[in-house]
Amino acid sequence: MVEFALPKNSKITGGKTWPKPAGATDVREFRVYRWNPDDGKNPSVDTYYVDTNDCGPMVLDGLIWIKNNIDPSLTFRRSCREGVCGSCAMNIDGQNTLACTRSMHDVKDGAVKINPLPHQPVVKDLVPDLTNFYAQYASVEPWLKTTSPTPQKEWRQSHEDREKLDGLYECILCACCSTSCPSYWWNSDRYLGPAALLQANRWVSDSRDEATGERLDNLEDPFRLYRCHTIMNCAKACPKGLNPAEAIAELKLKMVERQI
Ligand code: SF4
Ligand code: SF4
Ligand code: FES
Repeated sequence: MVEFALPKNSKITGGKTWPKPAGATDVREFRVYRWNPDDGKNPSVDTYYVDTNDCGPMVLDGLIWIKNNIDPSLTFRRSCREGVCGSCAMNIDGQNTLACTRSMHDVKDGAVKINPLPHQPVVKDLVPDLTNFYAQYASVEPWLKTTSPTPQKEWRQSHEDREKLDGLYECILCACCSTSCPSYWWNSDRYLGPAALLQANRWVSDSRDEATGERLDNLEDPFRLYRCHTIMNCAKACPKGLNPAEAIAELKLKMVERQI
């Protein structure tokens, strides 16, 4: 298992241990990163005890239970609760993943340790600031670009060409991959990172798109694409089972092929 560094701004000190829920016969310990930009204090790790007989099995269920029953100030993102929206990405027991699809019972030993996605600025508690991540996604212009006259009904695509998008279109932009990538940790201002590059390949691979040359030109830069060193953390981290490293290798190949 890959263990990751803690988020930026994380000189962690102290932390509060909250009382065990009265009358609970089966509790699970949660240790959760806390940081409030408004109180002037360093980050800390708070300890909570979740009543597992009163709570669903997922880590997100535990966090919601804590928020509803112990500490309403605990802050995290979530929406769909079924691995579709990508909002609840966080670092659980050393791995970037989705809190709604990771069972707390799969975290075998001791406390469930929860931190924000690593190497991003923190907005509050478990909420990372993904402004740069989304700007990089926007920079690959993730929409169909065409010059041909717009067809009356729809842009058609064969089943074979549609299949070329498998393994790319399923990305939910959770950022688990990019925030597990050492190259992205050190150069996130200039390296696009695995998520944005997987998306770049999704559009370059789309048979209906007519801006392939322009898209590849946009990646022709020592940092934007070529900082991937095939370390593969991204593929290990992706909760949707995608392989951004492979998508990046395909992009590099397309760069070479167009020069032949
Ligand atoms: S394979 Fe490339 S993108 Fe993936 S973690 Fe390694 S350096 Fe980062
Ligand atoms: S490739 Fe996987 S880990 Fe990366 S943003 Fe998309 S869904 Fe998340
Ligand atoms: S809440 Fe939507 S992916 Fe977890």
